[in-house]
Amino acid sequence: MEASSPTPSAPSAPFSTVIRTASHEQHTEAENSSFMSDLLGGRLGVRAYRRYTEQLWFVYRALEDASAPLAGDPVAGPFLRPELARTAALERDLAHLGGPSWRTGLAPLPATAAYADRVAACARDWPAGFVAHHYTRYLGDLSGGQIIRGTAEKTWGFARKGDGVRFYVFEDIPNPAAFKREYRALLDALPVDDLEKQRVVDECKRAFRLNSAVFRELGEQFPLSA
Ligand code: HEM
Repeated sequence: MEASSPTPSAPSAPFSTVIRTASHEQHTEAENSSFMSDLLGGRLGVRAYRRYTEQLWFVYRALEDASAPLAGDPVAGPFLRPELARTAALERDLAHLGGPSWRTGLAPLPATAAYADRVAACARDWPAGFVAHHYTRYLGDLSGGQIIRGTAEKTWGFARKGDGVRFYVFEDIPNPAAFKREYRALLDALPVDDLEKQRVVDECKRAFRLNSAVFRELGEQFPLSA
């Protein structure tokens, strides 16, 4: 009988905790990449910041091109909140950084192309995998992204929350902490089984690795002159 079972199973942690804990190591790695450290340490020029912002544009286009096709999806649909959308803000930043013809001849780094391709493939074939990518970028932007904004304003002289750093400003999210709480509740309610949740965690780790690969290639383009 169930009531007399000697080994009741421990209640499992909420999925938002599982995914955060499982990707902690990859987060530290991405944070400490030499490109990110140099950028945040104010040791790189605005050209490096522009190159980085260009890479983000390719990634967010892949993320946000999926919004319409996935809107009605029972797994990914609830995460697709219009107030998160970053493409328009990135385009304003890039026009500020590169002038009106910023788009001419723009090509992604190989690592960026691979990252955007993976996001697009998940959007097409695997909505739960897409959630892993969505989480990795947007929850990060709502968190550590604010640190990057402050540094960028200080280092390259952008107006506070103005052109150049609009990507980091979520004008339609007045209370990021509350928004993140709601987002975590959506993760906790993800309507998939435990095996699928494990695959989502693995995809999240992959998303972090894809980000680190972009940082690596950017680091090769912008090595610090010793
Ligand atoms: C130097 C760069 C970075 C800094 C300083 C940074 C900093 C932070 C901080 C302080 C938090 C905790 C916020 C909180 O507890 O609410 C956070 C969360 C997060 N960051 Fe980063 N981060 C950086 C890079 C990245 C990168 C490259 C990614 C992935 C693309 C990322 C993804 C995330 C995610 C997904 C979370 C949310 C974790 C959760 O609460 O579930 N971060 N970051």
